[in-house]
Amino acid sequence: MRIAILPDDNTIGKVAADLIEELYRAKPNAVLGLATGSSPLPIYKELIARHQAGKLSFKHGKAFMLDEYVGIPNEHPERYRNVIDTEIASHVDFPADAVNGPDGNAPDLHAACAAYDRAIKDAGGVDLQILGIGSDGHIAFNEPGESLTSRTHVGVLTEQTRRDNARFFDGDIDQVPTHCVTQGLGTIMDARRLVLVAQGKGKARAIKELVEGAVSAKWPATIMQMHPDAWVLVDEAAAAELELADYYREVWEKSR
Ligand code: GLP
Repeated sequence: MRIAILPDDNTIGKVAADLIEELYRAKPNAVLGLATGSSPLPIYKELIARHQAGKLSFKHGKAFMLDEYVGIPNEHPERYRNVIDTEIASHVDFPADAVNGPDGNAPDLHAACAAYDRAIKDAGGVDLQILGIGSDGHIAFNEPGESLTSRTHVGVLTEQTRRDNARFFDGDIDQVPTHCVTQGLGTIMDARRLVLVAQGKGKARAIKELVEGAVSAKWPATIMQMHPDAWVLVDEAAAAELELADYYREVWEKSR
């Protein structure tokens, strides 16, 4: 894994945006994996700025989202599809229908999950997947105890995750859906490059486990240790529990 301990959100956004810009220069029809949550927002801000400056275009690109709530009304602002439109898709030049998300309101959710995996495959697979991490170590909505090789599936949200996400639902956990549709860890691991971002002390334990813990379903993000091209971009607070922080800083500086 490439581990970067960076000073602030702006730098995290810039380093991740450099990787995405480099991808689209080399492959204008690249497939980008989009994540919701607050962690990737500095990346989206930077991508929008570069697009507006004429440096980056998504006009031949495609994107796939990681996950979606089940049963959330289509027009709800916290429906992940709407969040992605608000935070990034509506500000850049992805063609109509180029941004795909799992359908949390499909009449047959299991069939919709299988169709989503097929759509990713038919698009040639995800070239670069942006990821955040939950405080319990989940990525997308793969909660502790899930199979490390799962495909897109219907999942149950833990109370911890619903409590974490209640801030988007008037602080009321009862308004947070109980189920989700999520890319599985196996689906995520098929992406050619993974770029996970995390900020703040609330993520410090999860980052410690992700980088230095044993690979285990207890901390789902640890599966990233098995990926040949995984990047972890964190601020000082999220890096606070890393035992080998000085080593990672040295390697990062010397590899640039
Ligand atoms: C949700 C999303 C995850 C995200 C996590 C962390 O559970 N499904 O994809 O990584 O929240 O969110 P935040 O970045 O806001 O801390």
